[in-house]
Amino acid sequence: MSLLPLLNSRFAAALVAVGAPDAQPLVQAASRPEFGDYQMNGVMGAAKVLKLNPRELAQKIIDAVDLAGIASSLEIAGPGFINIKLDNAFLADRVARALQDAHLGVEQSPAQHVMVEYSSVNLAKEMHVGHLRSTIIGDALARVQAYVGMNVTRQNHVGDWGTQFGMLVAFLIEQQQEGNADIALKDLEGFYRRAKARFDEDETFANTARDYVVKLQGGDAEVRALWARFVEVSLSHCNAVYQKLNVLLDDGDVRGESFYNADLPIIVDELRQQGLLVESEGAQVVFLDEFKNKDGEPQASIIQKKDGGYLYSTTDLGAIRFRVRELKIDRCLYVVDARQALHFQQLFTIAKKAHFAPDSVSLEHIAFGTMMGEDGKPFKTRSGDVVKLVDLLDEAQQRAFDLVSEKNPNLDEATRREIANAVGIGALKYADLSKSRTTDYIFNWNSMLSFEGNTAPYLQYAYTRVKSIFRKVAQYDQNAAIVLTEPAEHALALELARFSDVVHAVAKDSQPHLLCAYLYSVATMFSRFYENCPVNQDGVTNASRLKVCDLTAKVLATGLDLLGIKVLETM
Ligand code: ARG
Repeated sequence: MSLLPLLNSRFAAALVAVGAPDAQPLVQAASRPEFGDYQMNGVMGAAKVLKLNPRELAQKIIDAVDLAGIASSLEIAGPGFINIKLDNAFLADRVARALQDAHLGVEQSPAQHVMVEYSSVNLAKEMHVGHLRSTIIGDALARVQAYVGMNVTRQNHVGDWGTQFGMLVAFLIEQQQEGNADIALKDLEGFYRRAKARFDEDETFANTARDYVVKLQGGDAEVRALWARFVEVSLSHCNAVYQKLNVLLDDGDVRGESFYNADLPIIVDELRQQGLLVESEGAQVVFLDEFKNKDGEPQASIIQKKDGGYLYSTTDLGAIRFRVRELKIDRCLYVVDARQALHFQQLFTIAKKAHFAPDSVSLEHIAFGTMMGEDGKPFKTRSGDVVKLVDLLDEAQQRAFDLVSEKNPNLDEATRREIANAVGIGALKYADLSKSRTTDYIFNWNSMLSFEGNTAPYLQYAYTRVKSIFRKVAQYDQNAAIVLTEPAEHALALELARFSDVVHAVAKDSQPHLLCAYLYSVATMFSRFYENCPVNQDGVTNASRLKVCDLTAKVLATGLDLLGIKVLETM
C-alpha cells in the first residue's frame, strides 16, 4: 500500500479503538523536518466530538495505533498533532521493493476507462501557442492515468466541421483549378487568410462557400473528398508538432466534431422525448434552473438554432453520449481553457439530466489559465501576431542549442543538437506543467532554460549526475541489503517511497505541478545525500547507497517521462 493510505488506515483503526469511529485520520506529509516525516492532524477534530483534551486523546491514539515496523517514533506536538518519523528499516524495504517493481512502487488501481480529451485544435488554422497548454497538460495526465493502471483513451476532439470548411473547400477548388493546391496547402495560415479574404470581398465566392457547407453536411461525395483532403493536410501539420513536442497523440486518437454530425438530430429528439426541450424564439433550448441569467431566471442553453443549425454544445452532447454508450468510459477529463468553464458546467448538467451520462460517470473540466507575455498580456509576437507553435518550438530548441554550445563547446554538433532538443522542449513543457494549472503564467525563456531551480534542465542534469556515478563504478553487489543510517539517506529514501502517493494525487486531482514539485524535491534530496553520504570513495563502493542512487535515477527518469520530458544519459 502507498504510504499515505497505509498510515491513514492504521490511524483509522486506532480512532475506532479509542471510541472515535467517525473521526478522520488526516495524515499529511510534514511541512517541516522538525515535525517528522508525516503529521496526523485529525486529533483535534476527534477530541471535539469526544469532548476530550486533544493532547490526552493524542496519547491514547499513540498507545492504540499499530505502526510496529513502520514508524520509529510518534510524538505529540502543539495542541495535539502527532509527529511521525518512519523507521529506517521500513524505508529501506520500500526502496528495495520499488527497485524490484515494474512501477517503482506505484500502486496499481483497479482499472477504469479514463478518457483524456486534449489538444482538440480547430483544423482550419495552424497550431498556435494557445494550443500548447491543453496539448502538454493533457498528455501528462494521459501518461499518469496509464501509469496508475487505468485503461486510457486519448481523444483529440478536433474542430473539423462548420461554416469555415465550406469556405476552405471553395478556395481549395479555386487553387486546384490554378494548379496551386499543393503549394497553397503548405502554408495553412496563409491559406486560411486568403480564403477569408476571398469570402469577404467576393459575393459569388461567398455563396459558393455557403453552398458547400450545405453539401458537406448533406454528405455530397465530391465536397466530402475535398474536405477530407484539407483535414488530412491540416492533421499532418499537427502531427509534426506533436512529434516535436514528444506528445503521444496520433491519427488514431482523432475523432473530430464531424464524427457526431449524424447524431445531432438524434440528440434533439432524445431531449424532446425526455421533455427537456422547449421552443424559445424559434430555437430549441433547454432551460437550466441551476444557472440563472441576469434577471434571475433560468438560463436557456440553445441546442438547435432557428435556422436548423446546431451548436458547439450540441456536438459536445453527441460526444458525451457516444463516449458513455459506445466507448463505455468511466471518467472523462476535458483539458480545455478556463474560459470555457461555463460551457462545460452547462454541458455536464444537461448531459446528466438527459441521462447521456449516468451519475457514476465523472465528467471533469480540467481548466487552465492563459500563457502571458512579459507585458502581462496574452503571449504574442512583437508585432502582435499569434505565435505559431512550430516557431515557438524551433526557438526553444535553438536557444537550448546556444546554451549547450556555450557550456560544452567540445561536443560535436549532432550531440549538441540532440541535447538541445531534449532540453529546449523539456524546458518549455516543464515551465508550464510546474505552474498551478488554473492560474495564468508569464512565459520567460531565461527562467525556463536555467540549469538552477525548479526547471527541466536542472532535473535532466540531476539525472545525468546520478547516472555518471554508475559509469565510475565497475560493479557492485546488486543483492546487497539497503541500510539507511544518515539523516540525508533517510530523507532521500522517504522521498523515493512517496512516489506512489504523488502519482496517485496527480491522477486524482489532475495537477501535474505536484509531480514537478516532487521531482524537484527528489533532486534536491539527492544533492544533499550525495554531499553527505559517500557512495564511492577511496576505491570503496557502498552498494546500499548505489541502490538508492539507482532508484533515484529511475524515479527521476520515470517522473519526467510521465510529464512527457526526455532524459539523456550525458549532457
Ligand atoms: N476546438 C475547441 C476550441 O478550439 C476546443 C474543443 C474542446 N473540447 C470540447 N469537447 N469542447 O475552442
